Amino acid sequence: MTDLNALEAELTQAIAAANDVAALEAVRVAALGKQGSISGLLKSMGAMSPDERREKGPLINGLRDRISAALNAKKAGLEAVELEARLLAGRVDLSLPAPPRRKGAVHPTMQVMDELIAVFAEMGFAVAEGPDIEDDWHNFTALNFPPKHPAREMHDTFFFKPGADGERRLLRTHTSPVQVRTMQSQEPPIRIVAPGRVFRCDSDQTHTPMFHQIEGLVIDKGIHMGHLKWTLETFVARFFETDAVTTRFRPHHFPFTEPSAEMDVRCDRSGGEVKIGQGDDWLEILGCGMVHPNVLRQCGIDPDVWQGFAFGLGVDRMGMLKYGMPDLRDMFASDVRWLEHYGFSATQAPNPASGLS
Ligand code: DAH
Repeated sequence: MTDLNALEAELTQAIAAANDVAALEAVRVAALGKQGSISGLLKSMGAMSPDERREKGPLINGLRDRISAALNAKKAGLEAVELEARLLAGRVDLSLPAPPRRKGAVHPTMQVMDELIAVFAEMGFAVAEGPDIEDDWHNFTALNFPPKHPAREMHDTFFFKPGADGERRLLRTHTSPVQVRTMQSQEPPIRIVAPGRVFRCDSDQTHTPMFHQIEGLVIDKGIHMGHLKWTLETFVARFFETDAVTTRFRPHHFPFTEPSAEMDVRCDRSGGEVKIGQGDDWLEILGCGMVHPNVLRQCGIDPDVWQGFAFGLGVDRMGMLKYGMPDLRDMFASDVRWLEHYGFSATQAPNPASGLS
């Protein structure tokens, strides 16, 4: 029979000598593993006579319990030491220089949106908003587009499948439905601009399926084309930050305004770049007109009492003009190099006091 005291002394010493978790595990296997010395003793109890078992059993079990406890205690100690060593090795040296990091920038569209809002806010316009998903009535019917009129298709509209109510919803093709929503929810006088996303099924150098417009609407008594002209000319001078801008109004057609016009600004196209406020060329920048009496009536406003003017322009296009970006599609390609080049500081919001850009 093995000398239990000698075995205990030997194992206790091996446990004390183990200086990492792996060495300790080897000791555990040698003692308590399937072929281990203590496991062998436990197994041998089966062959003992009852008297012998009564005598040796408690000794062997006692040895197993003490060795198990010693192994567990040592393991906990070793793990704590190893954790400490790992934490020390992984310590961050705060004196190291930070790795180079890409700096965020404000997208030119958002910058121009803020500039436009700042200019119109100074003239007393509030900001209004409407949903991207519209119904046919707000996007077309209330704006005096005749039913089944090709103009509905002309806008290259993205239509949804008809819903349970049979209604065909759509992605708004312009910000003009916000005119309707504002006139329905506010009493005149009204003076708002409505910036937002619009959608048309179209893509080339100057068209993307999603782009941004800003809509303007003024409803008051005695409003005429002179108010419209002054507002838009003042806006262009402030936005391009020069008094040298010359504008020209050309007759046009929009279903929701009568009369309607397009406004051009004088520009110079020589040298492959558009320069505003010089040269002999003209560039169309917005659509406008006097709000059609039918639109006022659809919104519950009496056209014999109230009149108004409206205008709409492409925000991204204004950005391309002001900041010289040649391709509209780049604006939505999410290329960080482009954004680093054309982006704006996030800490310098445009305002009339400190300047726009
Ligand atoms: N909604 C027109 C478009 O997207 C732009 C427009 C023209 C808006 C004339 C107006 C307006 O408010 O009076 O083509």
